[in-house]
Amino acid sequence: MNTFKGRSFTVIDDFSFDEKMYLFQKARELKSYIKADDKAGMDKFRINDSDFGIYEVFIEDSTRTKESFKNAAEFHRVKLSNLDTSHSSINKQESFADTFNTLSGYYNKIFIVRSRQEGLCRWLEENGRNYAQRNGLATTPAFINAGDGKHEHPTQELLDDFTFLEHNGWNTDSIHIALAGDLYHGRTVHSKADGLKIFSKVKVDLIAPSELAMPEFYVNKMVANGFEVNFFSSIEEYINSGRMAKIWYFTRPQLERMGDAILKKQDQLRDSITFQKEYLEKLPEGTIFYHPLPRHKVYPSIPTFLDSTPLNGWETQSANGMIIRIILLALISGKIGDDFKGEVKVPQCHEDSEDFIVPLPIHPNAPIKDCSEGVKPIADGLVIDHILRGRTETEIREQLIRIIRTLKLYGKGGEWVTASRKEPGKMKGIIFRPGHDEFGIKSMKRLAALAPGCTVNIIKDKHVIKKLRLLMPPAIYNFDDIECSNPDCISNHEQGEGIPAEFYRTDEDKFICKYCEKIHTFMDIWKWN
Ligand code: NCD
Repeated sequence: MNTFKGRSFTVIDDFSFDEKMYLFQKARELKSYIKADDKAGMDKFRINDSDFGIYEVFIEDSTRTKESFKNAAEFHRVKLSNLDTSHSSINKQESFADTFNTLSGYYNKIFIVRSRQEGLCRWLEENGRNYAQRNGLATTPAFINAGDGKHEHPTQELLDDFTFLEHNGWNTDSIHIALAGDLYHGRTVHSKADGLKIFSKVKVDLIAPSELAMPEFYVNKMVANGFEVNFFSSIEEYINSGRMAKIWYFTRPQLERMGDAILKKQDQLRDSITFQKEYLEKLPEGTIFYHPLPRHKVYPSIPTFLDSTPLNGWETQSANGMIIRIILLALISGKIGDDFKGEVKVPQCHEDSEDFIVPLPIHPNAPIKDCSEGVKPIADGLVIDHILRGRTETEIREQLIRIIRTLKLYGKGGEWVTASRKEPGKMKGIIFRPGHDEFGIKSMKRLAALAPGCTVNIIKDKHVIKKLRLLMPPAIYNFDDIECSNPDCISNHEQGEGIPAEFYRTDEDKFICKYCEKIHTFMDIWKWN
């Protein structure tokens, strides 16, 4: 069985280490055939099927990614189409689901998609599967992310990693790399947080002023992946540190994604991430520069006088783009990949378990404790205790109101903020509702996501008959009142696509958006924000 066939490629981590190495090996073989103009060698990789439909859908501008995919598809001798997105019904407010379903219905098999919207391919993959099932398509369409907003650029990452390996003799032991430029908006550097995992030891020097600094999510990911990460606010500071990497990776200031406040400072910001002639003599021997390109013609971060020096690694890098993309298409079409042996990356399964409900021991004959702050204990009903223990009184009070509203806990009873008996000095919230029934699983999940750590006590005849501790639920979705707060996320209401939010619990007890991967605290996923 070919494990690559029909797969979508939405983020760099969609391929395992073994799969990436296999892809690079194939790219090396193809590159040598192309260099030698060995037609028989090249033919081994060609899909060579004029009915095989590949569609380019670029809603953001592109030269290299779009044209290298076009050239790659032409190499394959397939049916290549290009949606003219500036004149398509996307501009008449047609949904992405309807647009891509239409094109899937014309028997196209691979879509190459670039968008401002983040997480679009993840959504299209799911939507395409449902469309294929409904319409009895023999194959489910595959979606390749050619850059989604400031999220990821996985095919650029493949060609970057291939280029680094080619440069260092295919050694995956270690890499020391400087990432310089707009690390905040640059999706190519975000993909490095998982992409560089192919090296056993990774040292990353991040060079950017605070306005353009690498988002915390990607820094945390790098650290969690075992990378050593160092920070510098300008190239000048880095040069003077004397601890420079020999591999430098530049990214352009992405003016089109910046807000007015940052744009006002663009000259000053540009200066801090532009390479200057006087730095040249301080570079370590054998330094090489890479850049995903484009460079700004007036303000290039790598000045053009360096084009004809040994620092120029970006031209080879750019040319490798087509080779890598030929191989990627060959794999997803199923043309190659039958002989792959190794770990297959299977999509993470987010089990919707009930492990967030932890039963606590109860003493059946113990009467409930007297309350010390003026409210009598209840005889029958529900008491939710330890709400937001340790937070400020104001935070707890506000959250009590939200819990009551969200779970519709109206009616008799009360709620108050009090000092925790367990942890003196800390505050907590309590809600009690006499006569209230036990919660169903859905409400339990909502409560767990509103007040992780709280306890739910069920009281009958003045005795606690059940006591449950609620932890962060593993997944939360299917609720109207949750939303990813990233306006560029495909599931955000501003996109108008009607895609319901979905979050998964992280190891740090946060929620990650299924689509754009923005990290949220449990307080941030609710629409009241
Ligand atoms: C990059 C992109 O679009 O993310 N370019 C590319 O694909 N080669 C970088 C950029 O636009 O600055």
